[in-house]
Amino acid sequence: MKIGICNDHAGVEYKNRLVEYLTAKGYEIVNFGTDTTDSMDYPDVAHPLAEAVEKGEVDLGIAFCGTGNGMQMSLNKHQGIRAGLCWSVEIGKLIKQHNNANVLVMPARFIPFETVVEITDAWLGEEFEGGRHQTRINKIPNCR
Ligand code: RB5
Repeated sequence: MKIGICNDHAGVEYKNRLVEYLTAKGYEIVNFGTDTTDSMDYPDVAHPLAEAVEKGEVDLGIAFCGTGNGMQMSLNKHQGIRAGLCWSVEIGKLIKQHNNANVLVMPARFIPFETVVEITDAWLGEEFEGGRHQTRINKIPNCR
């Protein structure tokens, strides 16, 4: 499985540590994020990741910024993206089971790295439940 990953300056360390962890587990990683701690603008890396997920160039995405919110807001501007902001393992499971989130977003400044690993494993390990949840996600892009 190919995973695209992106981050701003607040998420460099967690991005690097998670890439190492996921690569060791056999995932292929494509890096869309910045590799320095110089201040930068999260939409500049969120949009390329979103486009890669929408085009099927990567199977799933993971994004970090300080709070996770800037990334989540930018990613969810794309019609084919369902980016879920997660700070607990339970939410990590539910964004796959109920929302079929194709991008996992985490707040690098607010959770320990151990939690990042647990959330990522939970999200990757769950299955979308379909049914009523498919009906609901089908309605997400239909803005009225
Ligand atoms: C950067 O200081 C911070 O604003 C950014 O990482 C993120 O939290 C924005 O939503």
